[in-house]
Amino acid sequence: IYPFNKKIKGDSKKVVDFIEIEDITEKASLCRCWKSEKWPYCDGAHGPHNRLTGDNLGPVVVRHKQK
Ligand code: FES
Repeated sequence: IYPFNKKIKGDSKKVVDFIEIEDITEKASLCRCWKSEKWPYCDGAHGPHNRLTGDNLGPVVVRHKQK
């Protein structure tokens, strides 16, 4: 099972990503399953993972406050 992260920045001791909030136009979906090919953004890869494992992973969505 470990390492959980099998492909993203494997040469780094710790994966840390920064996204400037000003660069988010409407919303940004950020991956929490470590399976995305568009890391750190969600590309829907959590769907097949969830179907295969019975897990319930999904992204964190960052958006501007809804008015
Ligand atoms: Fe990882 Fe969607 S691809 S949460």
